[in-house]
Amino acid sequence: MQPDPTTRFLEALRESLQEQTLVKITLGAPCGPDPTLRKVRGRPVQLRAGPRLQLVWRHEARDLTHNHPHEEGVAQVAELLGTAFGSGHLFTLAHTLQLQRRGERWRLRTGPPQHDTAPDRAHDRDKERPVALDPAWMRGLGVLDRRGRPKRGMESKRRQILRFVEILDHMLRGVEPTERGLSLVDMGCGRGSLTFAAYQLLIARAGPRSRVLGVERRPELVQRAAELARRVGYDGLSFAAGHIDSVSLDGVDGVVALHACDTATDDALARGIEAGARWLVVAPCCHQQVRPQLTGPELLQPVLRHGILRTRQAEIATDALRAALLEAVGYRARVLEFIGAEHTDKNLLIIAARRADAQPGDLVGAAVRRVQQLARAHGIVEQRLAEHLGVSLEA
Ligand SMILES: C[S@@+](CC[C@H](N)C(=O)[O-])C[C@H]1O[C@@H](n2cnc3c(N)ncnc32)[C@H](O)[C@@H]1O
Repeated sequence: MQPDPTTRFLEALRESLQEQTLVKITLGAPCGPDPTLRKVRGRPVQLRAGPRLQLVWRHEARDLTHNHPHEEGVAQVAELLGTAFGSGHLFTLAHTLQLQRRGERWRLRTGPPQHDTAPDRAHDRDKERPVALDPAWMRGLGVLDRRGRPKRGMESKRRQILRFVEILDHMLRGVEPTERGLSLVDMGCGRGSLTFAAYQLLIARAGPRSRVLGVERRPELVQRAAELARRVGYDGLSFAAGHIDSVSLDGVDGVVALHACDTATDDALARGIEAGARWLVVAPCCHQQVRPQLTGPELLQPVLRHGILRTRQAEIATDALRAALLEAVGYRARVLEFIGAEHTDKNLLIIAARRADAQPGDLVGAAVRRVQQLARAHGIVEQRLAEHLGVSLEA
């Protein structure tokens, strides 16, 4: 059965972005709740961060420009069709598509191309390594609906997935495909949405024999994710039911733990460090271990007496300790925003890359002293990662 007209239109947009044949796209016949929004125009652009679909929202009195990674741009167009606009025109080097709504139905007309020159693109195409996330698994996990639009309540998840891919892609800069590929383990993978995304990226960046293993203590989630991986034909993606400490990390290149609860983040980091992983990526979740310990000096009392500020301070202190501990054992660590705070307040990522000269068992004295100072200033005497690494928090 042929897909419906909107899906075909979106597929054509996605394809034209992948094949670099998109000239422009326009959305018209406004029908949404914002009476000032007249039109949206899109074109492909090449930014330093990579290829993007630029969408310009033309309002009555101003234009707003957003640059989207391709898949996000397609999803944005999908969202706008029907909710804000009743027509779309897609101009590519292969054809011209006209999508129009008539009452409840959509009609799609295909015509010959009206342009014969590829749009001007920036010169550094080496950087262009788009990963068009496979709608099959995104639908299977309930992130997208049948038409490729984010399901109700899944917009934040979709953004998180896209951002995660962007960050991993940046982290893997300089990696070339090899016969073996790379191996990554995702600890506390839950339903697996970020695990599937990581797999697609690794395949694209490091070679088709790359492997990703999702570890999750809830067997029912593991079973579902494994079935979906089989269904979409991802041979190198597997899932194991068990705890973070139950799987072998032999030969692993990267360890990821996203929103693994409380000290599970520390357990995952410790396992990655022990295995000599080149990359560690964690999105800390709740910070329960440190919060009750915070006493802090007189200076911090105005902060600690308010519950919400105490919680935030516990998060800041814990994640700063983690980053400093990673530095102490030979990693270069960075803390950055995962996705905007409007989507979740669990929005930090710690990314660490092992220094080329790091040796197993190394402890950098200066970094350890910084860890101890930070812990002392907050009255922290126990922190799980420090325990794992045998770092005493008392100087
Ligand atoms: C909040 S979910 C996050 C899921 C996924 N990583 C994401 O970001 O979408 C945390 C998951 O970690 C799992 N988890 C927590 N501690 C774990 C442990 N020690 N071993 C294995 N799984 C764990 C939980 O069962 C839960 O599914």
